[in-house]
Amino acid sequence: MTDLILTGASRGIGAALAAALAADPAWRVFPVVRTAADLPRATTADLAQPASARAAGEALAAQVEPGAVLVHMAGVWPARRELVDGFERAYATHCLGPLALQAPLLASGRVARVLVIGAGLMVKGRFRPDRTPTGADFSSVRTYCTTKLAQAVVMRAEARRWPSVDFAVVHPGVVQTDLGDRGGPLGWLLRRVKRSWEAPEVCAARLVRLLAVPRWAPAPGEATWYFEEEAQPWPPQADAAAAAVAEALP
Ligand SMILES: NC(=O)c1ccc[n+]([C@@H]2O[C@H](COP(=O)([O-])OP(=O)(O)OC[C@H]3O[C@@H](n4cnc5c(N)ncnc54)[C@H](OP(=O)(O)O)[C@@H]3O)[C@@H](O)[C@H]2O)c1
Repeated sequence: MTDLILTGASRGIGAALAAALAADPAWRVFPVVRTAADLPRATTADLAQPASARAAGEALAAQVEPGAVLVHMAGVWPARRELVDGFERAYATHCLGPLALQAPLLASGRVARVLVIGAGLMVKGRFRPDRTPTGADFSSVRTYCTTKLAQAVVMRAEARRWPSVDFAVVHPGVVQTDLGDRGGPLGWLLRRVKRSWEAPEVCAARLVRLLAVPRWAPAPGEATWYFEEEAQPWPPQADAAAAAVAEALP
């Protein structure tokens, strides 16, 4: 049995993945949720707040067995700029929180694999180290793409820092969830378009198959970029943004 820490387990793809893994005796799931939930082994953390994320990571490091898997699922597509402790919400949730959560877990030596739920839309991102972290360049569409690009880039750098850990970033699919829901004409249009998107359970089954792949990274220190279940070359945007993303980290 392998322990698996799953953020974003309360709704959407994360809830579907938690349900799929709960039915499989090969896995013992440790959900990380923002508000207390009636889920076995749940840990609460607000991933937009690094101190909260780090505390959860420290608590989990004492609970999971060596060889554990960490899945960064939590995500947000904000319609407007909002600061959390001085940082734009999507940047904090996609970059600062996951880094803070995993720091004590990786240092403990108990996490062997990290799967980051990224987004193919990262190719539309434009990271500005002087503007993106505080949302000075906020856009209700592009900020999501930019912060998912930053998330992929920071995790690629983490793979270099922790070569004994197997890292992958995956575009999970185009999935019918609440992500990005908003009011107004754009929200109405999005809700209509989403009706044709795949169910979270279909995406969860794909992620279960990806979790069964014995190794994602081609070599120590590298992270693989998957588009659904296909390993792909990293898009040039990930290379181009690397220095800017690193420069912005606190
Ligand atoms: N849906 C798609 O088509 C699609 C496509 C590409 C990539 N993705 C990625 O897939 C992942 C899951 O998305 P989804 O579509 O399932 O979205 P969702 O239904 O909106 O679920 C988002 C999850 O993230 C959690 N979360 C957000 N902010 C958090 C915070 N500050 N602290 C703790 N948890 C937080 C939410 O918890 P609460 O219940 O507490 O809000 C919820 O469990 C995201 O990383 C997203 O970028 C989705």
